Amino acid sequence: MDLFPLARPFASLIEPETAHRLTIRALRLGLAPRQREPDPASLAIDLFGLHFENPVGIAAGFDKNGEVPDAMLALGMGFAEVGTVTPRPQSGNPRPRVFRLPLHRAVINRLGFNNEGHEALKKRLLARRGRPGIVGVNIGANKDSADRIADYEAGIRAFDGLASYFTVNISSPNTPGLRALQGREQLDDLLGRIDAARPADPAARVPVFLKIAPDLIADEIGMIVEASLAHRIDGLIVSNTTLERPETLRSPDAHETGGLSGAPIRPFAEKALRAAAEAAQGRLPLIAVGGIDSGAEAYARIRLGASAVQVYSALIYDGPGLITRIKRDLAARLRADGFSSISAAIGASR
Ligand code: FNR
Repeated sequence: MDLFPLARPFASLIEPETAHRLTIRALRLGLAPRQREPDPASLAIDLFGLHFENPVGIAAGFDKNGEVPDAMLALGMGFAEVGTVTPRPQSGNPRPRVFRLPLHRAVINRLGFNNEGHEALKKRLLARRGRPGIVGVNIGANKDSADRIADYEAGIRAFDGLASYFTVNISSPNTPGLRALQGREQLDDLLGRIDAARPADPAARVPVFLKIAPDLIADEIGMIVEASLAHRIDGLIVSNTTLERPETLRSPDAHETGGLSGAPIRPFAEKALRAAAEAAQGRLPLIAVGGIDSGAEAYARIRLGASAVQVYSALIYDGPGLITRIKRDLAARLRADGFSSISAAIGASR
């Protein structure tokens, strides 16, 4: 993410992962501007027992190790998702493994869940315990795990009492075989075991979301919605990166292996969201992600059925000022259409 717009011509010359590392370091040092204006009351939403000051969150993958959730909240995010974290530390795929496609405001990554593991994240979350703000933990499985489902169960247990919510990530394209967990039998097994790993006491249970790929057909999404309801999943995050490569991509890196994110995935993420909203019929809240880079886009997804949104790639190109712009525009659009709250606009276009 480009924290300092004046340095943009310089930052864009730096190798993407190095630029990302520098951004995280700057955020840790408190070099980011704080957002000063309070969120408009119309943007607040109560969902899953959590109170969101605004519905715009930072998506998983930006802060894999939980180094800067509070800095992201201070920038104006309504919630911060850390991870994906796996039980054991993992170095991920060889570099280079992140590619910018500036012409398309897109990114391709094949990081492969590089992260410091449960213990390192747990220490950081323990250190921030008691601070306000919604911080979710996105959990995954180690590439060489003999029992991947056990890795998700371990994630639920490891961050009990530390995570405001969990995201079960079964949609990364960069861990071979992971997306197979979206198939019926494996999904039932996974979700059943996750349900059993959650605290029995309803007061101790935090929401668990399932994050799905945009590369699923409507029938598959319908099946996932039913399985989620059957196993007490609280919501779906739609969606992760895509393996598709739209023909319009002209960047020299367009055919790099990995997941595509940013502006070009909008139609894929939107189609998946429509299918999820159609199947859920209001029974399962949805969080939209994929190519959101404006208040207009956030508002459109809410009208399609999302209760909240997340962003990542657009921040790389636009910097943190984007967060305030999205929120202001979203509030203005709600007002213009006569909605007093986000809740009133959810699904208005369906
Ligand atoms: C991601 N994304 C991601 N998702 C996830 O669930 N776990 C992860 O570890 C990562 N890692 C990751 C790294 C990088 C470099 C990018 C660009 C993306 C996916 C991300 O959370 C989001 O779903 C997609 O990027 C689509 O949103 P945007 O980027 O188009 O706003």
